[in-house]
Amino acid sequence: ATGLLLDQLRRPLRDLRISVTDRCNFRCNYCMPKEVFDKDHAFLPHSALLTFEEITRVARQFVAHGVRKIRLTGGEPLLRKNIEALVEQLARLRTVDGQPLDLTLTTNGSLLARKARALKAAGLQRVTVSLDALDDAIFRRMNDVDFPVADVLNGIAAAQDAGLGPVKINMVVKRGTNDHEILPMARHFKGTGLVLRFIEFMDVGATNRWRMDEVAPSAEVVERIHRELPLVQLDPSAPGETAERWGYADGAGEIGVISSVTQAFCGDCNRARLSTEGQLYLCLFASRGHDLRPLVRGDAARGIAPASDAELASAIAQIWHGRADRYSQLRASMAPDEDHGERRVEMSYIGG
Ligand code: GTP
Ligand code: 5AD
Ligand code: SF4
Ligand code: SF4
Repeated sequence: ATGLLLDQLRRPLRDLRISVTDRCNFRCNYCMPKEVFDKDHAFLPHSALLTFEEITRVARQFVAHGVRKIRLTGGEPLLRKNIEALVEQLARLRTVDGQPLDLTLTTNGSLLARKARALKAAGLQRVTVSLDALDDAIFRRMNDVDFPVADVLNGIAAAQDAGLGPVKINMVVKRGTNDHEILPMARHFKGTGLVLRFIEFMDVGATNRWRMDEVAPSAEVVERIHRELPLVQLDPSAPGETAERWGYADGAGEIGVISSVTQAFCGDCNRARLSTEGQLYLCLFASRGHDLRPLVRGDAARGIAPASDAELASAIAQIWHGRADRYSQLRASMAPDEDHGERRVEMSYIGG
């Protein structure tokens, strides 16, 4: 693959997010509500999952097309058995200009204290940890499995100690649930070198009962922090970034706000998403993916051999070339219930 691969809106392909499992040990209500993801829920069977070798082979073709950043997601990626082995394989890939990848992972932090050192040794560069509250009661209620906040804080500390930093912290803000934790979270992480990001509660998937009145707009989050801890806006560090950056006026670090609902950032969106079973999604809000697994694995029962690397690369190029997705931007001008009526992919399946 040579030349710059652009989609229909002239956006390059830079970022590949790979989901490695659709399972999670948490049941955050905005993502895997218990009444849907209960003991009868059918998760993917093991045979459906891409193997580490298959994932690495697909990733290599993406990297040949210009991908520079790979993020492992889930569900909870640290639940995938021996995930370090995948990290090790991906860490060996080089970008088209010969650089190591920006290799990172988004986790709920519950297993991080145990795994941070091994992940670092395998070649992971950094991690992002989801943390919605410091208050133990609120945190336990939000993860909905009574998981204590202290264990996640230990995981974050272990990641910093292992050199997986600067660690980013993701806080999904739901008005009426954890918005009073905005300032305590800001104070807690100010001056630590960690980067706290506030995420607007998004209408992803079809099961999380999203409502606009539970969204705390980023402008309001920034205003509330700024009143007590003065902020100045910073320039983006990369084109197409999800977070808008704000620095503390006294120089004690930065925060970010991710405003998918009130200020869509589709214009430069350079992210592709690969599901655990090999479906390529071109948008977080897409209803369907492009199945790469038959190319990767072939289909012995139907006498179909796996595709060559060149065929795989050209399939990826064709799919990206046809991409015109910009859901968040379109939603801004949509009537509240005007949707295409198709069931959107679940966050826990595609990894956020
Ligand atoms: P960094 O490179 O570390 O800044 O990570 P990131 O912001 O790309 O990834 P992360 O997994 O931390 O995502 C932060 C939040 O932004 C999550 O809630 C994601 O679901 C959301 N997000 C990431 N990419 C997109 C996107 O392309 N569109 C939308 N709407 N939301 C996104
Ligand atoms: N809205 C916003 N962010 C969400 N996440 C999961 N579900 C939602 C939602 N409905 C976040 C997780 C994690 C990141 C990958 O996505 O908390 O930090
Ligand atoms: Fe699990 Fe993350 Fe979803 Fe919470 S947001 S249920 S931790 S995948
Ligand atoms: Fe990209 Fe879709 Fe998110 Fe827009 S809504 S930024 S196109 S993933």
